[in-house]
Order: sequence, then structure tokens, then C-alpha cells
Amino acid sequence: MSQFWSDIVHTLTPYIPGEQPKTNNLIKLNTNENPYPPSPKALTAIQSATDEGLRLYPDPNSDVLKQSIANYYNLDVDQVFVGNGSDEVLAHIFQGLLKHDEPLLFPDISYSFYPVYCGLYNIDYKTVPLNEQFEIDIKEYNQNNGAIIFPNPNAPTGIGLGLNSIEKLLQNNPKSVVVVDEAYIDFGGNSTVSLINTYPNLVVVQTISKSRALAGLRVGFAMAQPDLIQGLIRIKDSFNSYPLDKLATLGAAAAIDDVKYFKDICQKVIRTREHLNRQLKQLGFEVLPSQANFVFAKHASLDAAHLAQALRKQNIIVRHFSAPRIEAYLRISIGTDTEIAQLIQSLTSIISNT
Ligand SMILES: Cc1ncc(COP(=O)(O)O)c(C=O)c1O
Repeated sequence: MSQFWSDIVHTLTPYIPGEQPKTNNLIKLNTNENPYPPSPKALTAIQSATDEGLRLYPDPNSDVLKQSIANYYNLDVDQVFVGNGSDEVLAHIFQGLLKHDEPLLFPDISYSFYPVYCGLYNIDYKTVPLNEQFEIDIKEYNQNNGAIIFPNPNAPTGIGLGLNSIEKLLQNNPKSVVVVDEAYIDFGGNSTVSLINTYPNLVVVQTISKSRALAGLRVGFAMAQPDLIQGLIRIKDSFNSYPLDKLATLGAAAAIDDVKYFKDICQKVIRTREHLNRQLKQLGFEVLPSQANFVFAKHASLDAAHLAQALRKQNIIVRHFSAPRIEAYLRISIGTDTEIAQLIQSLTSIISNT
């Protein structure tokens, strides 16, 4: 607390990111990073750009990157917005597109940054409960709202919502911006990008942090019809003209262009996820059906916080949320096959010794 803080600072409840430990000897399954390295082509692009040219400011519009994204998704460049991680892109969306007289709606269990942005930008919001199976029920969104946002697949459940349901939601809410946060879409979901040209109220947000294995580069992007993108550009140019440095712009573009490498590592993650699913079930866990690079699992008898602590003692970190409805669950990011084998071995010994 400081007398020098502005009023808003006193009211904020900041987001708490998952732990980034300083030691290397941990199996880190707590923040949904990709266990595989980034595309070698992305690393080469970053290395090649590391020269005296860094003396100059980067391209404020990251045109090279927008072009790569537009090519990959068959969009026009003016339908793409890029920012410093999808968190920054989301922040601009909250401020620029989601603040209205009626409340913003999002699921009661979803990305815990959403209420934080509402606090930062003073946005009225209402949470909509997931059903008993932890699924989004689009009928529940037939109520007064200024806008809607949800992750697809949802986090931390990993459960995906089908394109037909999203299309119905867009049709039922033509006066509201609907934001689909697709941070985990490449691990088995169907992207809503294909609906952008049909629905002027749709915004799709993605990141290179997960499926392109580049969380350390901090690049995210939004795709929508040009007038919505223009609104985001107005915010960005009133906040930070150069959110992406030159290395991030070129590295991200090379990663998006390397489609084969990207598809290969996604497939590997999906295969390991299905294997982990089966193993966890054998150990007495109920595992929600995941389309993401993590699973959300509850043990039949053992306390999740206890399991997380016991794993930590064996140098494995997973994520536990002490929040209503989900305190019995662990969120486990998909690691390499070796890491997952170690996880299973540790869980087996913890369970048999409890
Ligand atoms: C649902 C969801 N959206 C957005 C993000 C932010 O990703 P980034 O800022 O790394 O692009 C995350 C990160 O974990 C997430 O889980």
C-alpha cells in the first residue's frame, strides 16, 4: 500500500501466474507449455535477426507476422491483430470491445485472467455456470449481455465446444461481440476462424505460446472483421506502438510458416495426452475429456492439494486451484513421454503409500 497509488491500484486483484521455478531439475507440468522445442526455423529466424539492426525500432505493425497468420488461415492482413502474448491482446479486447452497459458474460470456470481485466477496466461482468459435466451450455447465454467471452477448449477443464454450438451462440447474440479464446485449439479442437467472414461480431484469439512452443517469445493474435481489428489497433497505438520486438515478429512468423513441424508436435502431444488419460483412469482418477495440452483429473478418494504437494516433493509440479467446484481436480500439462512416465510412477507410489 502506498499513498502514491492511484485509486484503481487499491482495487485491483492481480492474476497469479503458475510458478516458474528457478531450478532445472523439475518436471514442469503446471503452466501448459509445450514440452518440445520451438521450430528450428523459428530459432534460426531469431538468431539471424540478432544483429546491429536492433539499433532501430521494429516495424510497429509486425506486417511480416500478420501476413504469415493471414496466409495460414486464409484471411486478409487487415483481419489480423498481433500483440505481446494473447494476454495483451485480450487486455485490449476487454478495454476496446467488451465494456458496455450490459454485463460481459463468461463461464464460472474459465481463464482466471478474465475477471482481472474486468477489475482493471471497470467492466461489469456475470459468470454463467458450466453444466454438471463442466460443459458450456449456450442456452444459458440467452440473457441480457454486452458481450461474451470463453476459451475453446475451455481452461482449466480442457473440454471443447463444437462449431455448431458456437455458430448458434453467434446467431442468438448478434448485437454482442463474442470472443473465442483459442489458446489450446490446435490440440484437437475445430477453430472458429472459418466463421469470421460470416459473423461481424466474432473475434478469435490465439497464441504461439502453446502449440508453437514459444511461450518465451510472447506473441498472441486476434482475428476478426476489419472494423473490429481497427478498434484494437486504435487501443494499441494509444498504449504501446511497438508491442512486438523484431525478434518476436520474425520468430513468430517463421513458426507459423513451419506448418509441418507444428503439426508434428501437436500430434505428439495429443498421443501422449490419450496415453496419460488411460493411465490416470487406471490409477482411480476421473479425467475430463480434453482437447487441450493438459488434462483435468480428480482422484476417487485422494485430496488434490495433498497429491499436488506430494508430487512437488518428488520434483513434479502440477496445478491445483483452490476454487469452488474444482478444488478436487489437478490440472496436468502434457509433457514428453518420459516426463509422463515419471509422473505416473510417482503417482502410483504416492497412491499406494497413502
Ligand atoms: C485460456 C487462455 N488464454 C490465454 C492465455 C494467455 O496466453 P499467452 O499470453 O501466453 O499468449 C492462456 C495462458 O495460459 C490461457 O490459458
